[in-house]
Amino acid sequence: MNNASARASGRPATRLRPRSALVSAVVGLALVATAVVVSSSASAATTLGASAAEKGRYFGAAIAANKLSDSTYVGILNREFNSVTPENEMKIDATEPQQNQFSFTNADRIVNHAISRGMKVRGHTLAWHSQQPGWMQNMSGTALRNAMLNHVTRVATYYRGKIDSWDVVNEAFADGGSGARRDSNLQRTGNDWIEAAFRAARAADPGAKLCYNDYNTDDWTHAKTQAVYRMVQDFKQRGVPIDCVGLQSHFNAQSPYPSNYRTTLSSFAALGVDVQITELDIEGSGTQQAETYRRVVQDCLAVPRCNGITVWGIRDSDSWRSYGTPLLFDNNGNKKQAYNATLEALNAGGTTPPPTTAPPTTSPTPPPTTSPTPPPPTTPPPGGGGCTASVTLNQWNGGFVATVRVTAGASQINGWTVGVSLPGGASVTGTWNAQASGTSGTVNFRNVNYNGTLSPGSSTEFGFQGTGTGPSATPTCTPN
Ligand code: G3I
Repeated sequence: MNNASARASGRPATRLRPRSALVSAVVGLALVATAVVVSSSASAATTLGASAAEKGRYFGAAIAANKLSDSTYVGILNREFNSVTPENEMKIDATEPQQNQFSFTNADRIVNHAISRGMKVRGHTLAWHSQQPGWMQNMSGTALRNAMLNHVTRVATYYRGKIDSWDVVNEAFADGGSGARRDSNLQRTGNDWIEAAFRAARAADPGAKLCYNDYNTDDWTHAKTQAVYRMVQDFKQRGVPIDCVGLQSHFNAQSPYPSNYRTTLSSFAALGVDVQITELDIEGSGTQQAETYRRVVQDCLAVPRCNGITVWGIRDSDSWRSYGTPLLFDNNGNKKQAYNATLEALNAGGTTPPPTTAPPTTSPTPPPTTSPTPPPPTTPPPGGGGCTASVTLNQWNGGFVATVRVTAGASQINGWTVGVSLPGGASVTGTWNAQASGTSGTVNFRNVNYNGTLSPGSSTEFGFQGTGTGPSATPTCTPN
């Protein structure tokens, strides 16, 4: 025992003779050196979640509710990860299998497991062309728009306060070089369906980060990446509530990790949003796979607003692409070379945490920089000048979504105000495509910049959602 360890042990140090003092000094130095090594390796985090947390980030996994009884699976989950994404349990077909009948049992199992252990939850996903229940697949137009907004509102409200980040809209852009939106029943309700979904999500859960999530958006030069970038830029300019972009990052030979990945991450971040790697998996094995994982982690750590990574499954056998062995644990739950590279890269990364994200903004929508074309007329012009308004209501116990159609009369109008009378106790919590004067009683909704001008007989729609009982009386409409 040397003096230091004697002090540490609380026992008195023995007086040393000169020769033994020299030996002791050498031994002491060795011990100090050992202590340094020990202490430096002791400070390196030994799990993915702990290491990411040291960098102000999370490291998550997509998980399945029906595997929470698998002890190997849960052991790895609880040890390694500090965030989860339900792989299928929060999708529309799972949470609203029949219209207006919500089912949260399996999603709750995941959310409760995560929250009771201090893990974050990424919600996936509120609006998507895929995995729609049959009733929604068969809908179109205003009915579908309302149903989508109702779904967003109900699910985000149910989980209010429990979700770190929501994938509000998933995979809305087409593959290939067009840079266009993906055709879908949701897209055919109007190009503004994405921003309407984001506004509804913000109103329902103001504390959650709201993300747009997509795949094949990793290569900065791809048309799809550029198209998503322009949409996010436009949303930020117009005040559409968006806080983050999710890059799914499913990599394989056909869709390899791009050398400009870091440019993509930093370019999105420069728009003022967080960037999250949301569904990472990398097909392959051995060193090739491990080094690609290392580069992905290095790229994320190099971008301050890349604040989390989620792998799409735990063991290779849990993957939707199990044949490609794309994950960090083998079928038996053993750590792979890819795991070691990932942990090393996390531990080696900069220690500067990302800036604390400002709480999501709820400021009113500033004027748009582009002017979407109002929908074509669908009803005959009412006689005379002026305008009329009609409301379609989706009511449930405790809340509603109202869609209001404003139609010009025989003359063009250059602005409109719609007066809606709300029953006692009802309150407006969010509005899209209009500016509300208040939240209760008679609320006046005024056009925003891009939908005030209506040619004779043409119409436009705006909407709002609220708590309580929605309006039953026909709204008034007055040209400005
Ligand atoms: O649970 C049923 C089972 O009872 C039934 O016997 C079996 C027969 O087909 O199907 C099982 O459900 C499957 C489900 O995964 C659970 O394994 C569905 O058929 C299957 O379609 C579903 O696939 C999911 C896929 O999304 C559907 O689009 C994958 O698990 C899921 O990993 C995958 O996740 C997507 C993200 O949401 C979005 N990005 C791409 C990613 C990979 O496709």
